[in-house]
Amino acid sequence: MRLLLTSLAILFSSAAPAQNGKALHDAACLECHASLGGGDPYQLYQRDDRKVRSLQDLESRLQHCMRAADVSWDRDQQKAVVNYLNSRFYRF
Ligand code: HEC
Repeated sequence: MRLLLTSLAILFSSAAPAQNGKALHDAACLECHASLGGGDPYQLYQRDDRKVRSLQDLESRLQHCMRAADVSWDRDQQKAVVNYLNSRFYRF
């Protein structure tokens, strides 16, 4: 029992928000974006005429797309995904 609890503690402590952003994003968001981006899920974030122009845009787009993806992330999870997308693609 103690071993199980220790393993669980390790499992959850490694799921800190910052590292979580990519995993959350990839599980919920890749598939639909890939179908829109001609097979490349990241094309939407990198195209010349991308829609998101500020951090606020990114946060509000996330709200819409969370509905499209049928997920309900809490504040920390949303922040982790915004941080991931911003640091990898947008850089506001
Ligand atoms: C069911 C389809 C679908 C799912 C699932 C989805 N999206 Fe989207 N996403 C879209 C569409 C449609 C657009 C808008 C494309 C356009 O403007 O041409 C978009 C655009 C975006 C953009 C803006 C790209 C730009 O132009 O700068 C972001 C950011 C984004 N999605 C984030 C997410 C995130 C995060 C998730 C996962 C929670 C997600 N999306 C899941 C359909 C989806």
